[in-house]
Amino acid sequence: MSESEATVTRVATAAASSSPAHRQPWWRNAVIYEIYVRSFADGNGDGVGDLIGIRSRLDHLAELGVDAVWLSPFFASPMADGGYDVRDYRAVAPEFGTLDDFDALVADAHRLGIRVVIDVVPNHTSHEHPWFTEALAAGPGSPARDRYLFRPGRGSDGAEPPNNWESVFGGSAWTRVTEPDGRPGEWYLHLFAPEQPDLNWRNPEVQSEFRDVLRFWLDRGVDGIRIDVAHGLFKAEGLPDDTADREGILDTTPRPYWDQEEVHDVYRDWRALLDSYPGDRMAVAEAWLPTLERMSRYVRPDELHQAFNFAFLSTDFDPGAFREVIDATVRTLAEVNALPTWVLSNHDVVRHTTRYGGGEQGLRRARTAVLVMLALPGATYLYQGEELGLEQVTDLPDEVLQDPVWRRSGYTDRGRDGCRVPIPWDGDQPPFGFGERSWLPVPEAWRTRTVAAQTTDPDSTLRMYQQALGVRRVLGGSARLDWLDTPDTVLGFRTDSGLVCTANMGTDPVEINVPGELLVSTQQVHVSGVTTVLPPESAAWWRA
Ligand code: NOJ
Ligand code: CA
Repeated sequence: MSESEATVTRVATAAASSSPAHRQPWWRNAVIYEIYVRSFADGNGDGVGDLIGIRSRLDHLAELGVDAVWLSPFFASPMADGGYDVRDYRAVAPEFGTLDDFDALVADAHRLGIRVVIDVVPNHTSHEHPWFTEALAAGPGSPARDRYLFRPGRGSDGAEPPNNWESVFGGSAWTRVTEPDGRPGEWYLHLFAPEQPDLNWRNPEVQSEFRDVLRFWLDRGVDGIRIDVAHGLFKAEGLPDDTADREGILDTTPRPYWDQEEVHDVYRDWRALLDSYPGDRMAVAEAWLPTLERMSRYVRPDELHQAFNFAFLSTDFDPGAFREVIDATVRTLAEVNALPTWVLSNHDVVRHTTRYGGGEQGLRRARTAVLVMLALPGATYLYQGEELGLEQVTDLPDEVLQDPVWRRSGYTDRGRDGCRVPIPWDGDQPPFGFGERSWLPVPEAWRTRTVAAQTTDPDSTLRMYQQALGVRRVLGGSARLDWLDTPDTVLGFRTDSGLVCTANMGTDPVEINVPGELLVSTQQVHVSGVTTVLPPESAAWWRA
């Protein structure tokens, strides 16, 4: 056992014996790993990831040391948007498995001490949801149409959409339907693809249906929910025209369809429902908002537990910018008594290795940023493959692209498939143990990035993640940080749990005073005496 492992064990024993009065809910400082189900592991050889595939790879997650997984939607769906278009909220899509597979996955995960968070999609259903089929058949003015947002068109013959709203995926947010009598009729709203009609959350039946869906999954033992488009459920009364142009899929400009006051009533209601279950069931909001202050309103004490901090994800690799966003986050959330929720990548954004410049530099920076993130107070979300240092795949052939963004943007935006390429597990031929084949091609170059290859390489990104998560189990769990006095390019802070993180975000080596005992680092750090040199674009953790 190395010196640092010995230290870690001692602290662990102390933590385990602390009184139950100090017990914190599991999610407070959790590391939650996002599984994009289609791309994680294929258990039946059809080229598409599935629930039995995930079960067969749970040991990877246990060895990595995560506290929970968040599964992207695996519900019955025509898959117009990778499953974010749900046909039946209580059924598993056949391509992903069965309800029994799901129950078995939850049981196996729980046995390994891994919690399970599922993805709830309340803003819209699939156009194949029975409610939508019923609405089309029932015609204008019917109760079935009132579950969605149907409106007459503008202009003398109603041929113009009801307002100027644009779809997040490009094009108008309205599609005109053919009425049961065969004539062109009303329009329905879809903030995303036409296959994803928006629900009317002012309709009580919609509200009670989702309460019921939540109970269905909570009763099956899920530990939490990720709420898709959590800021979108209500649209401003009268559906007024939008006044600003859209700026792509990650746009955070205030809009008449985002962040309306009424969403908070729903989350107060859901919080009470979650609280009525034993075992700290939690909810995390996916909400792209213009300010941290607007974000903090989703995690007020009687609302949701977490909201992804997309301001952090959107920050450039720059020490000043990092420090500013970290400070602002901690401060703003403290005002509502909440801890931050950090994230660098997910299935909607370009992988952070690539955002930070790609290649060796991108990887160096990604490793640095993740050590910073994992040292911060609060919870952290990881995205499958980042522990392998995977990059965005930017050269997928046109004909394999499946993201609706590709077509809806008139083939100008290649969409999000590049971060959804299947995980390389082992072997030396694509798809590297993902399955016999894969729905997106896996780059040859990932041969050296497989889980197997990285497991045997002590300097690999995977080993660094494992080490960091091991230390975090013991010295994580912090609620505050204090900045250290460091040179400009260095980010240095100490948490109240005794962890010190130093990150040299500049391109020159920097000498600093040794802040404690070295625990983990992204590059070799030589400590001799009272000072040490931090290599360019590197981070290290120290025990104060
Ligand atoms: C956010 C999800 O993360 C994304 O993948 C999806 O396309 C949209 N919401 C619409 O459901
Ligand atoms: Ca499969």
